[in-house]
Amino acid sequence: PMDKTFALIKPDAYPRREAIIEDIKKCGFTILKQSEPKPTKEQFEEFYAEHKERHFFNDLVAFMQSGPIVAMVLQKENAVPDWRKTIGPTNSLKAKEEAPESLRAKYGTDGQANACHGSANDDDAKREIEFCRVRYLDPLHLRHP
Ligand code: CMP
Repeated sequence: PMDKTFALIKPDAYPRREAIIEDIKKCGFTILKQSEPKPTKEQFEEFYAEHKERHFFNDLVAFMQSGPIVAMVLQKENAVPDWRKTIGPTNSLKAKEEAPESLRAKYGTDGQANACHGSANDDDAKREIEFCRVRYLDPLHLRHP
């Protein structure tokens, strides 16, 4: 299994990013890369393409553009499932009930403003790490394709 995954700190949790980053390290992850990209609406639509038929899609894209974000590549044995477990259930209200130590319980608010993103599986982790590197983390790449 992969030892890397892709993580975002979403706009709702950006003010508490330093506490979240402390928690990430305490949970045994190494932060291999960290940046504060500013994806366009179109880039977020592509990043979240799997959700484009869902009723919350437009709200999600607007929410992700509502403030700064932190993008990270995290490394750890079993990074993908371990990071999903660390962040907890998608809905922060459910996380507060079922996984009070999780990051979404501690730093999130509800089903949309849930503090963090984590890749769902190894294929998504590869795609998201690559998408971020090529599409908006690395502007040099765009200038010198
Ligand atoms: P995440 O699982 O990281 O990626 C998809 C995001 O869509 C999810 O986090 C939430 O931020 C948002 N989301 C998922 N389900 C809902 C929902 N039912 N209503 C509003 N937003 C949602």
